Amino acid sequence: MSETGKYYENKVAAVTGGASGIGLALCKAMLAFGADKVVLADINKERLERETGRLEGEYPGKVLGLTCDVTSEDSVKDMIARSAEFGGGRIDILFNNAGICAYAMAHEMTELEWDAMIDINLKGAWLVARRIIPHMIRERSGVIINNSSVMGLRGGNRLSHYAASKWGMIGLTKSWAIELAPHNVRVVSIHPTGVNTPMNDGLAELEGATAIEIAERSAGNLLPGVPWIEPSDAAELVLYLASDRARYATGAQFTRNPMALARALEKLDAAHEPTHAITRGAAHLCIVDPSASRLSAREGFLGDVFASHPPIAQRIIRLKGMAYQAAKQPAE
Ligand SMILES: NC(=O)c1ccc[n+]([C@@H]2O[C@H](COP(=O)([O-])OP(=O)(O)OC[C@H]3O[C@@H](n4cnc5c(N)ncnc54)[C@H](O)[C@@H]3O)[C@@H](O)[C@H]2O)c1
Repeated sequence: MSETGKYYENKVAAVTGGASGIGLALCKAMLAFGADKVVLADINKERLERETGRLEGEYPGKVLGLTCDVTSEDSVKDMIARSAEFGGGRIDILFNNAGICAYAMAHEMTELEWDAMIDINLKGAWLVARRIIPHMIRERSGVIINNSSVMGLRGGNRLSHYAASKWGMIGLTKSWAIELAPHNVRVVSIHPTGVNTPMNDGLAELEGATAIEIAERSAGNLLPGVPWIEPSDAAELVLYLASDRARYATGAQFTRNPMALARALEKLDAAHEPTHAITRGAAHLCIVDPSASRLSAREGFLGDVFASHPPIAQRIIRLKGMAYQAAKQPAE
């Protein structure tokens, strides 16, 4: 804890996609924890006005709502100029969070669908950051948190364009971390599992299921009765990363699903005796970041293992190879 317990005192935060879901939850939490000023930037004018109005009532003078399309250079330029003015020249925290999700098989997807996904989720993050970075460099301090997804660490059915945009955010995160470390600016990414926000409604409609069923099917949680996490759970992780408590975290990926590792390795363990020791090792890794959610072990878990601990993934592949060779040996 800081001396006052208020980690964001004197801090100015800009949150794209701030009028809904995870972004809005973060704005509320930042203000509750003492942020000096918070800017909500969102393309949805109606929701933005409603939510900004509510927050303004509670925190007069500390909130600014700006209509902004992160794909438009002019709109971003205007949003950042006005944010900096509001923040007295400073923008200490950027939560690059604006995003969309849509669903299509790669061979059925139109170019328009692909472009929209990459433009909003990936290029938008760069358009915003590139105008905020100079403010951070000038102050010799700052934190950029890119909101990727669990889909930035694995693949997903009918989600290749979404996954590509979210894997791309890791590239941005790692590269910006290198570029900005000399300026004392940190850059990290978060990778939430399914979150209870309006974002999942589209797929639910497409599949004739409820959003909660979709979340359960695609992500699922290890703990019983937790079909998805709440926006405040994701915001909690951002709160930590934006604060000095995470002062040595940069260039790194933070998930809310280490239990995926446990579940995946548990399955491997049952299949191959030699992996037992690795499972034990991974269990220790899991304890580092306890969380409520997990990935399906069915698809892509090796990707998660690689993201979390490459040497373990290498060993698993080797052991799987050995098990395969052993299975091919004729029985004695
Ligand atoms: N909901 C999930 O299951 C989940 C899981 C992991 C990651 N995420 C990521 O979290 C982020 C926030 O999503 P959410 O779940 O809170 O959804 P949400 O739909 O509640 O919020 C997204 C916000 O982004 C805004 N937005 C969309 N396009 C924009 C644009 N061009 N310019 C400015 N704002 C724009 C929307 O108006 C909306 O307010 C997204 O990047 C999403 O990919 C979501």
